[in-house]
Amino acid sequence: MEKPHVYITRNIPKAIEILSGSCNVTMHKGKAIPSKKEVIKNIRDKDGLLCVLSDAIDSEVIDAAKKLKVISSYSVGYDHIDIAAATGRGISVTYTPEVLTETTADLAFALILAVARRIAEADALVRRGKWQTGWKYDFMLGSDVNGKVLGIIGLGRIGSAVAKRARGFNMKVLYYNRNRLPIEKEDQLRVEYRSFDDLLKESDFVSIHLPLGNDTFHLINEQKLGLMKSTSYLINTARGSIVDEKALMRALREKWIAGAALDVFEKEPVSRSNQLLKMKNVVLAPHIGSASKETREKMAEVAAINLLNVLNGKRPIYIVNPETLSH
Ligand code: GLV
Repeated sequence: MEKPHVYITRNIPKAIEILSGSCNVTMHKGKAIPSKKEVIKNIRDKDGLLCVLSDAIDSEVIDAAKKLKVISSYSVGYDHIDIAAATGRGISVTYTPEVLTETTADLAFALILAVARRIAEADALVRRGKWQTGWKYDFMLGSDVNGKVLGIIGLGRIGSAVAKRARGFNMKVLYYNRNRLPIEKEDQLRVEYRSFDDLLKESDFVSIHLPLGNDTFHLINEQKLGLMKSTSYLINTARGSIVDEKALMRALREKWIAGAALDVFEKEPVSRSNQLLKMKNVVLAPHIGSASKETREKMAEVAAINLLNVLNGKRPIYIVNPETLSH
């Protein structure tokens, strides 16, 4: 029997190594991100696609793929894929949660510490030779993290892992979820439920851990930012478009909040003219939530196994639309 044909949109060595054993693998070459035209051309006759979160797999791409059985995303988020279009065509969509939970929670916590203690600003200052006075009692004062109130929006896998870290810092942890957790679970995680607005009003740090969807697009807008304390910080390691970036710029400029730490943006990569780049009270990272060597290796493995399992008629480890499996 002929080996299945698979297209992979990036050079991810571990995934290629696993897939090559039983598939004909075509890989996108070159440093540039493949254009939509290129993806369409390459997946026309493929059985499987392995993609990343910066590939927009919309209905036009999906419709062009005549034999496609599986779209395996090397990510926990799948807002870049038109799930309804894939499901309508009986194409399974798989993803890589769990293996990146702790690593992403580490980054969220690193951002909390960085923005509160002005670490990026301090580093830049020392490098620029601006540390001229030696130790000074009122130099580069930030805000404590220990003992403060952390508000987690979306207490799923990553949100819970951030809550766990916060306990080590003696923080009080509030959370908001569409569905409140059972009391036993709240007690176990040592978290307190708040309405969305109350969480924003009470927290010193607000950390976002939700998927992007129609219901979460611009969830944090001017009105919501206006509820936050002027001494509070916003941390986003989820998806840029959950926050209305223009509203956030206004809130930062007009000091409605003390600062923000962002790993994700409405448009990635951020343009050099993005006003956030000029703001001192902002820490910026280039979407590196899951970017540890260990985790990226595990994600490659899971993405490849998910894809192979669907092609072999087995259940993938993580699937977004299990209803496609009976097709
Ligand atoms: C990262 O943002 C991911 O979705 O894996």
